[in-house]
Amino acid sequence: MTASALLYAVFFLLWAGPPQADGKNGMEQPIAFSHKVHSRLGIECAVCHAPLAETGKLNVPKPSECTRCHQGSAPKNPELRKLAEFDREGREIPWLPIYKIPDYVEFSHDRHSREKCRICHGPVQERDVLRKESDISMKGCIACHRSRGVSIKCNLCYQISP
Ligand code: HEC
Ligand code: HEC
Ligand code: HEC
Ligand code: HEC
Repeated sequence: MTASALLYAVFFLLWAGPPQADGKNGMEQPIAFSHKVHSRLGIECAVCHAPLAETGKLNVPKPSECTRCHQGSAPKNPELRKLAEFDREGREIPWLPIYKIPDYVEFSHDRHSREKCRICHGPVQERDVLRKESDISMKGCIACHRSRGVSIKCNLCYQISP
């Protein structure tokens, strides 16, 4: 076995990833948020998921970004009441990640901006509850890189010291 084949095998085994929301029902998220409802209103993905300057990751909204549209401290809808409470207490909403890869893997949405969100995340705008719909494991990365003729060298995605 060559050194690079060995590294490849080791990374493959390590790539189990952190625990994830299984997304069976929206109540597992701290607030039942529906992408379908908000997409029907014509709100673009980037309104809520703009890139963060510090990390390059995409934003997931804070209460103050929701309350731009959802004002009022005592709404009837119980989910919006929870939102008002987070906002009043100045707390972030602890959204559970659905898509997550290990920190040691280099991935940037910016470099994938020519691919449609749907290819990696499914038809989000039709979902009341998000769940993981596509393979973002190393196998998924490699399958697409192969199909697009993009490099699959290990050091594309990992900082490997010589
Ligand atoms: C009004 C704000 C809003 C808009 C617009 C919006 N999202 Fe979201 N998005 C959220 C919130 C809140 C969450 C976290 C709760 C959840 O998972 O449903 C989220 C979660 C996600 C996640 C999972 C993130 C993770 O941590 O794993 C993906 C993927 C995603 N959105 C894609 C999209 C796409 C694609 C669009 C456009 C079609 C879109 N979103 C539009 C608010 C928004
Ligand atoms: C650009 C404006 C806008 C933003 C930003 C926005 N919403 Fe909404 N949201 C709406 C509107 C308008 C409705 C009412 C839609 C309807 O009744 O069909 C709605 C409906 C809802 C509902 C009730 C859904 C239902 O099933 O009827 C919840 C809960 C909600 N939003 C939560 C959030 C949360 C949490 C955020 C931040 C992550 C957020 N919204 C951001 C405009 C917005
Ligand atoms: C090539 C595949 C791919 C495409 C295309 C893609 N994503 Fe992602 N997305 C991922 C991966 C992989 C992660 C997990 C990243 C991590 O854990 O660092 C992710 C994570 C996210 C997150 C959680 C925050 C973050 O940055 O980790 C949001 C929100 C999200 N994607 C929204 C979108 C939206 C909106 C689009 C379209 C504009 C999009 N994605 C296009 C693969 C993709
Ligand atoms: C749907 C197809 C697709 C998937 C899935 C995908 N990629 Fe890519 N990736 C591309 C394409 C196309 C490029 C070249 C983009 C360019 O040069 O504009 C690229 C480029 C890259 C680059 C090079 C960026 C640079 O700075 O040169 C890295 C790193 C990368 N991908 C990592 C990943 C990882 C990690 C995953 C899995 C989590 C992944 N990709 C999944 C299509 C994909």
